[in-house]
Amino acid sequence: MSLLKLLIFHPILMLSAFTSTADGYYQSTAGKCVYSTSDYSDMVFLVSYSFNKAVDLQYNSTVGKFVGGTEFGVKQAEYFNKNQAYMQQLKANVDTCRHNVQIWDSSVRDKAVLPSITIKSVKQTGGRNPAMLMCSAYNFYPKKIKVSWLRDGKKVSSDVTSTMELADGDWFYQIHSELEYTPKSGEQISCVVEHASSPKPIITHWDPSLLEPGRNKIAIGASGLVLGIIIAAAGLIYYKKKSAGRILVPN
Ligand SMILES: *[C@@H]1O[C@H](CO)[C@@H](O)[C@H](O)[C@H]1NC(C)=O
Repeated sequence: MSLLKLLIFHPILMLSAFTSTADGYYQSTAGKCVYSTSDYSDMVFLVSYSFNKAVDLQYNSTVGKFVGGTEFGVKQAEYFNKNQAYMQQLKANVDTCRHNVQIWDSSVRDKAVLPSITIKSVKQTGGRNPAMLMCSAYNFYPKKIKVSWLRDGKKVSSDVTSTMELADGDWFYQIHSELEYTPKSGEQISCVVEHASSPKPIITHWDPSLLEPGRNKIAIGASGLVLGIIIAAAGLIYYKKKSAGRILVPN
């Protein structure tokens, strides 16, 4: 069965809008499926009846009835709430929501693109802690993403600042999260990214030995200096020995 057929087979509610362009009245009825969990356990079905910009009445499946927001809405809500058949139909729409959302969700998830993730050490701009890491996720789709930090497997709740999802302008997004911290030896710091492109959270561990160009430059410079001193000393000894030998040999 095609996607279209399935959706038509399970209609939620017609979205209706009546406009009178001459004097600009606008009446609308909207049905919404609201959820935030991937198993849809918190699914809520909402219906709003609005006139111009005011919501007259709203049905919320958790509440199980209409609640009026305007004088007219209160009367209308009372009238609808007495209509058992309508109320049952609305209640059943929570399951219809789950059914439809699953289809829509999967069609979005099919197009999900895995972010590429990097962690790097960044210079502080006067925070309370001496060190700062930045976890960046690049080129992901869709926009919705969650970036968090772990210190030795435990979730970090403070000293984290995150940017919004930034649109690259080519359907892809990027996001950056900074962790301010006081380094502890032997501790493992990880960046956790939750995104539709991965069934499991993507965990990236911070490797302090990598990506420290400052420290590397010092190490390379110090080795060069030591090597230079050794060669110079060897040369000096060789020269001294040679010139001393020359003096010993008479003409
Ligand atoms: C629906 O009603 C419940 C219970 O009052 C409330 O917690 C929830 O926020 C409402 N949902 C929406 C999307 O308004």
